[in-house]
Amino acid sequence: MFFPKNAISNWILHFLFADVIFFLYLCGLKSAKSCCAIVFVIMCANMKQTTVRDCKIIDIRKYADNRGYLSVIEGGLDIPFEIKRIYYLYMVPEAARGAHAHKELQQLMIATSGSVHVTMDDGGEKKTFVLDKPWKGLLVAPGLWRDLDNFSGGAVCMVLASEKYDADDYIRDYEEFLEYKK
Ligand code: TYD
Repeated sequence: MFFPKNAISNWILHFLFADVIFFLYLCGLKSAKSCCAIVFVIMCANMKQTTVRDCKIIDIRKYADNRGYLSVIEGGLDIPFEIKRIYYLYMVPEAARGAHAHKELQQLMIATSGSVHVTMDDGGEKKTFVLDKPWKGLLVAPGLWRDLDNFSGGAVCMVLASEKYDADDYIRDYEEFLEYKK
């Protein structure tokens, strides 16, 4: 489950949801099935309310000596999720990539070579991050639209993902995304 850390309003919403659960509990809704359904609704709401402020550039651990640099990322230690999948984009021509949102997937994007611009969009606000160093990574929260463009020559954008590939986790239509965020 993803917990946005930056938006205070998100936390207020969490408390409101907790109150709703408590109210339902008092009303006698005690079965495990009902509780699971409620938790699922909370999780979905949680993904929907993320904002571009839940994305941030992090410094990736690096070790330097006279042989050069080595950077390392351990899932659950350097980033807030276990790594289930790695993919990378390279030899990207003029055309942009991305142009979709993920409902649950968390990612870390790194330009291991060259540079790329990543624009995050929460339906209200957009923020562009420039990835141009192999020891900088962009932590991407779920529930946000992303566009990747301005790939420099020879750029390689590596993505560490919290889940295996799941086509159902994608929203590829921008209007549908805006509806999802409401
Ligand atoms: P796509 O999601 O369209 O790329 P982008 O991230 O630029 O939007 O993926 C392109 C193709 O690669 C598509 O046919 C699905 C496939 N694919 C996988 O099979 N596994 C993966 O982990 C990813 C990211 C893509």
